[in-house]
Amino acid sequence: MNAENIIRSKRDGRELTREEIEYFIKGLVGGKVADYQAAAWAMAVYFQGMTRRETSDLALAMAYSGEVMDLSAIEGIKVDKHSTGGVGDKTTPVVVPLCAAAGVPVAKLSGRGLGFTGGTIDKFESIPGFRTELSQQEFIDQVNRIKAAVISQTGNLVPADKILYGIRDVTATVDSIPLIASSVMSKKIASGADGIVLDIKVGQGAFMKDLDSATELAESMVAIGLQAGRRVSAVLSDMNRPLGQAIGNALEIQEAVDTLRGQGPGDLTELCLILASHMVYLGGAAPSIEEAHALVKGLLASGQGYSKLCEMVAAQGGQAEDLERIATVNPARLQAEIRSERAGYIESLVTDEIGRIVMRLGAGRERTGEPIDHAVGVKLYRKTGDLVEVNDTLAVIMANDPGKLEVARKAWPGVYNWGDEPPLSRPIILGTVSD
Ligand code: URA
Repeated sequence: MNAENIIRSKRDGRELTREEIEYFIKGLVGGKVADYQAAAWAMAVYFQGMTRRETSDLALAMAYSGEVMDLSAIEGIKVDKHSTGGVGDKTTPVVVPLCAAAGVPVAKLSGRGLGFTGGTIDKFESIPGFRTELSQQEFIDQVNRIKAAVISQTGNLVPADKILYGIRDVTATVDSIPLIASSVMSKKIASGADGIVLDIKVGQGAFMKDLDSATELAESMVAIGLQAGRRVSAVLSDMNRPLGQAIGNALEIQEAVDTLRGQGPGDLTELCLILASHMVYLGGAAPSIEEAHALVKGLLASGQGYSKLCEMVAAQGGQAEDLERIATVNPARLQAEIRSERAGYIESLVTDEIGRIVMRLGAGRERTGEPIDHAVGVKLYRKTGDLVEVNDTLAVIMANDPGKLEVARKAWPGVYNWGDEPPLSRPIILGTVSD
């Protein structure tokens, strides 16, 4: 067996055996398979695809390419959640406390933002004092004590994905269903949870642009979960518009807090309740999704979800007393209100461009390791489907750098597509796929 023959087999459309896949992934991590061979192989997979069996074997080979988290010391059925990445996506600070308040343990490893989508760890780090790095023992103890912890991915978890993702990112091979499914699921399997809820974003601001490919991705991930002995549910949600109104780290934590206090935007609240109900159901705290939904809705309404967030923030060293006004603790110094120069319906929003504008304000990074500014971002006051009059406030941009504010202000009109008729309304939840 050698890498060249494996690349040739895939290039010519043949199905790879489990042994070939394991050989290739081991070789990649061990230095026997070169980066350029992995790039050629990823391109062959991009064009030829993979069967469900190959995709599952790839996910498992990657999952066990390094350390795996042992969560067996945590009592109960551990659940996790993963989003394929979107703009304004702040569901984690809402759903983790809701599940924990329902008694379901969530030991969550999250990532930082890269490109136009934000990262959960960056958002949590906008809370003064919040520690995103805990030792494994602290992490496990905290989940046993209060049922929730969110920390940053550290250690040598899934080294194969780190190498392969870096190669895919610069060789135009990210948007391949088997490669995305195996990349995401390898990390979830290595993170150790028993039940996994996936939020698969669909639309202009997501990897998956249409419902058919998102459904295929979801089915593939659920199948990987089954092979790995994990229960998986996938929720398909709309990303043709940012989620909620706030984009930017502290602004998004503020919106998550508002949501847990019953004052969040409708789309965010609805999606969080659905994700949390799937997690609570997989975690065994309710006999059906419907009953799980009623349970988490009650926990949100009673404020128990919010109390749990405060408890988790305090446990990780954050100033929970600042949470209710987090966006004003260290506010951005500059603001620009964007008013509409025309009347009409907002037919659609160029969601990925909104993400890029906010990233360039300093809220995100183009390259791993770049510093970010937690205070900057955008608040959207009008979204897809809204009827707008001349001079209505469309958005407020918050910045710390006058030059960056000017760049954002100039680019902003380009994020709207206008129409004279109301566009077809799209629900936030587009479907679910379960095992
Ligand atoms: N997110 C991942 O973790 N991997 C992918 O391939 C795409 C999105």
